[in-house]
Amino acid sequence: MQITLRIRRFNPEKDKKSYWGEYTLDKVDSTDRVLDLLHRVKWEQDGTLAFRRSCAHGVCGSDGMRINGVNRLACKMLVNKLGEGEHIKIQIEPMLGLRVIKDLIVDMEPFFEHYRQVMPYYVNDAPLPENGRERLQSPEDRERFDDTTKCILCACCTTSCPSFWANGVYVGPAAIVQAHRFIFDSRDQAADERLKILSEADGVWRCRTVFNCTNACPRDIEVTRAIGEVKMAIRQGAKRE
Ligand code: SF4
Ligand code: F3S
Ligand code: FES
Repeated sequence: MQITLRIRRFNPEKDKKSYWGEYTLDKVDSTDRVLDLLHRVKWEQDGTLAFRRSCAHGVCGSDGMRINGVNRLACKMLVNKLGEGEHIKIQIEPMLGLRVIKDLIVDMEPFFEHYRQVMPYYVNDAPLPENGRERLQSPEDRERFDDTTKCILCACCTTSCPSFWANGVYVGPAAIVQAHRFIFDSRDQAADERLKILSEADGVWRCRTVFNCTNACPRDIEVTRAIGEVKMAIRQGAKRE
């Protein structure tokens, strides 16, 4: 099949504003991925096209972009999910809400800054069990946060959230998912600190339950549900005080 890619281009060294570049590719297989198409444009037509990718298998989280208006990983998005027929058009843009560095590459630093704010690491200063073994956890307790361990920090959720677009100060769904992973870990001791951080003005209450984040997540994490559980934990903590 033939594909026309419409790609949002911007090179700050020579462009005053962004523009659409169009690239037509022949002999595309319906099971090719959008990442394959971007590689073909870069390798066969325009070597200046800039985008991030690493693993090419949905693991590293580096190729989040807006494909036909929805955030997706280019390496997981098959052509046959984007249209049918002998000729289809696909539109590709950088994720919204973050500064564009070049073409499809956005500045991820504000996203990672929000991630760092929520203490996304295990905290337990108690002495280890005397037998020198690891801290044990029941399968039920492990299950409690299983979903949120799957996050690969691709930013597809946060950059599809209208509350984040509004001003960028909202900590965002990805950071809340990361906080959830530790808040509900029975071995961790810093849940109260994380809940305090997330109860502040730029925390979970900026979420208006829009669900874009859940729909965008390439790992099928129930993001909105995780946010709801964090909101509930904050409410229950407030009741105890
Ligand atoms: Fe990406 Fe999903 Fe993690 Fe958000 S929750 S950063 S969409 S993997
Ligand atoms: Fe945004 Fe997701 Fe909440 S899209 S408003 S974080 S449910
Ligand atoms: Fe690693 Fe797509 S290139 S997730």
